[in-house]
This record gives sequence, C-alpha cells and structure tokens, in this order.
Amino acid sequence: MSNSSAGRETWSTRIGFILAAVGSAVGLGNIWRFPFQVGQEGGAAFIVMYLAFVVLIGFPAMMVEFVVGRQTGLNAVGGIREFAGGAWKYLGGLFVFIGFVILSYYSVVGGWVLRYILGSATGGYIAQGPGEYFVQISSGLDALAAHAVFMLLVVIIVALGVKQGIELGVKIMVPAIIAIFALLAVYAFTLPGAGEAYSYYLSPDLDYLLANWQSIVPAAAGQGFFTLSLGMGVMITYASYLSEDENLGIDGGTIVIFNTGISILTGLIVFPILFSAGVDPETSGAGAIFLSVAEALGNLQFGRIIGVLFFTTVAIAALSSAISLIEVVVSYAIDEFGIARERATILIGSAIFLLGAPVTIDTVMVDLYDIFAAQILLVLGGILLVTLVSWLHPEEAIDELSKGIKSFSGIDQVWLWTVRIPVLVVLIVSLYLGIDTFVDFLTGDAFTDFLASL
Ligand code: PHE
Repeated sequence: MSNSSAGRETWSTRIGFILAAVGSAVGLGNIWRFPFQVGQEGGAAFIVMYLAFVVLIGFPAMMVEFVVGRQTGLNAVGGIREFAGGAWKYLGGLFVFIGFVILSYYSVVGGWVLRYILGSATGGYIAQGPGEYFVQISSGLDALAAHAVFMLLVVIIVALGVKQGIELGVKIMVPAIIAIFALLAVYAFTLPGAGEAYSYYLSPDLDYLLANWQSIVPAAAGQGFFTLSLGMGVMITYASYLSEDENLGIDGGTIVIFNTGISILTGLIVFPILFSAGVDPETSGAGAIFLSVAEALGNLQFGRIIGVLFFTTVAIAALSSAISLIEVVVSYAIDEFGIARERATILIGSAIFLLGAPVTIDTVMVDLYDIFAAQILLVLGGILLVTLVSWLHPEEAIDELSKGIKSFSGIDQVWLWTVRIPVLVVLIVSLYLGIDTFVDFLTGDAFTDFLASL
C-alpha cells in the first residue's frame, strides 16, 4: 500500500486490493464450513443451491458493498454513516455485533487448526486415531487454550497494523492452498470410495432438493454470505481503498471465482476420503475436514510433513479472514471513542475471547453460534444493505458503479433491478427460513440434550 495525496492509503496495485479481499473471503468458510454444510444438507443438492446463491445473490450483493466503500472512502461503520445518515448509522452497530459473534467461534475453530499443526508434527492424530483425536481437541481445556492462542495471534497482527504482511501472506497462501489441496485431491481420487463420493458430491438429487428446500435455501444463503464475507461491511472497508477507474464487476468476479474454486476443491478431498473410510458425511458434521484429512495423512508417505504444510496454510487463511472480522470492530472503536489502535485491539480481542469461551464446552455450541450468525445475522445485514443502497440511494449507487465500467452500458440498470427485487425477495425468504432452522435447532434433540447434561 502507498499513501495517496489525500493522506489516505490506497492499494498500491489493483492486485493488492484483490489479494486482501481474497484473504478475507478465503478461510474456514471454504475449508471447514463448506464441506460441513454439504454433508448436512445432502451433498450435490446443496451445491446447486449454493452456486446459485453465490452467482445470483452474492455477487450482486458484493457490488452493493463495493459501491458504498468506494464512494465514501471509509470503513464499514463510517461508510454507512456517511452514505446514509440518520438511523441507518445503527446498521454499523449491527456490523460490529456480527463481527463479535462470528469471530468468537471462528477463533475456536481456528484453534482446532492450530492444534492440528501440532498434531501433524507429533503424529498425534495418527497414533490416536482421527476420530478420537478430534473429540479430544475440539472441546474442553485443549480447545480453550487453542482458542486463546488464535485470538492472541489475531490481536498481535492487528495491533501492529501490518497491512503489507497480509498482502504477502495471501500471496503465499493462495498458491499454497491450490498446490497442497490439488495434491490431496489427486490422492483422494485413487481411493476405492471415490466414485460413490463423486456422485454424492457432483450429481444433484433433485427430489431431495425439492423435499428439503426449506433447510437447503437458508443454509445456502448463510454459506454464500459467510464465504464471501458479505453482510457485515467487510467489503465496504476493502473497496474504500479502490480508485475510481477500477471495474468493480471484474474485481468482484475474480474474488468470487477464486473463492468458489477453493471450496469445490476442498470437497474433492473430503468426500472421497470419508466415503472410503466408511464415515457418513452427515454424522461427521463440523469435524468433516479434520477427520478426513487426518485419515488421509495417516496413509500417506510424508503424511506428517504434508499435514504441517496443509494446516499451516489453512491457519494463514483463517487468520487473514479473522483479521478482516476484527478490523470492523476495531476501526469502529477507534472512530467512535478515539481509543488508540493497540488498546482497542487488546480490549476487543479479550472480549471476543470471552464470548467464544462457552463454545469450547461442546461442539454443539459451534452450531448454536454458527446458525445464528450465518443464517440470521449476515442475511439480515445483507437485506438492510441492499435496501439502503438500491432503494434509498439508487442514483449514487448507479453513478459509483458505472465509474470504471465503460464497455457495457445498461449493466448498471440490470444490476439495480436485480438487487432491488429478486435479490431482496430471496434474502427475505431465506431469513424467514433461517429463523425457522434456528428455532428447530434450539428445540431439537442435540441442543436440548446438551442443556440437560450441563
Ligand atoms: N469469509 C470468511 C471465510 O470464509 C469468513 C468471514 C465472514 C470473514 C464474514 C469476514 C466476514 O472464512
């Protein structure tokens, strides 16, 4: 990044912005959450819905955030205040709240990843067996300690304000993910269960989709928003660094393509391994990526080294996303209360650690936080953003989007009417169904049994 004449940093290169946005988007959402959602929502039927959401809803919704960011040149909270004013400034408050909730359990899962770096180095999960190992480290004191370490890393990076570090990290991370994941996907291809897994993963069962759309739709909406870092202003902040000759559509498209490709690749590793090991993807739940990769590494030559590399890259991906989450909260505290960056980061990091601590009691708590955050909060944030931009400030939005897009006139109107009606309607339906899913979860066996056991 370099300093512009106005004294505000802009990305030194277009690539710098894309790298940072990809760094936010690519993370546990692709590697941990995606296979877990696929497993719970019936395989390829979910994927079809998810892809539809990413392209038809997520991509236009990303443009909504880009427009606010570039127009105001401010972060999520300040950008909303400047763009909208009045009571809309509380939308910034919602973003801060969402950042708090998501990072609190994201860090717990990030802690699992850190534990698996260690487990790879020592061969721990190979000796103990992938299933037992996951049970042992995913809750209790082990998980609490790892959660603390993950949050500490986030706080250190953000307190130091190392933006260049993020750029560099992502530059290494994306090619590393592609190389290591491709290697594991090729290995997975050779397994006896691969054929069965591919048909589960790639050929959608439309009857299943029709019978279960009420849970698949909100799950796909939640995954679409979560994985693209939408619905809480993260992309407002990043786009605020962009210059006006940038084509927002091309940038957004690049981010969506990278992000989706990495998710699909992850599934090509996870499902052949689970099927070959005789593990039902539905029951492996939040453990899917950890169980499958641990299983594979136990059988591979140089498994431990590959494991260290694999989980280290995943940790970098998780950290670069976590940084974008905490940044929304930290910049709010700096703007609003005038606290110094280090102090703000330490206070906020500690509060988030505390909010995440109950998640380490039992993995069912991950579901509690996660359904609430992805299927309700992010979708709600998306609905409010889309309404604000497309209905209340259409002229500014159109004007801003058209800058840098010269080749295709009329596309701005297509975008405006897409977000105004179909996107908004689908998101409102998704929110309604997401609330339903959350209520079902709260009254379901897994959660009530857990409460009874306390
Ligand atoms: N997109 C990130 C991931 O997939 C998570 C995230 C969600 C980051 C919302 C910022 C905002 O891991």
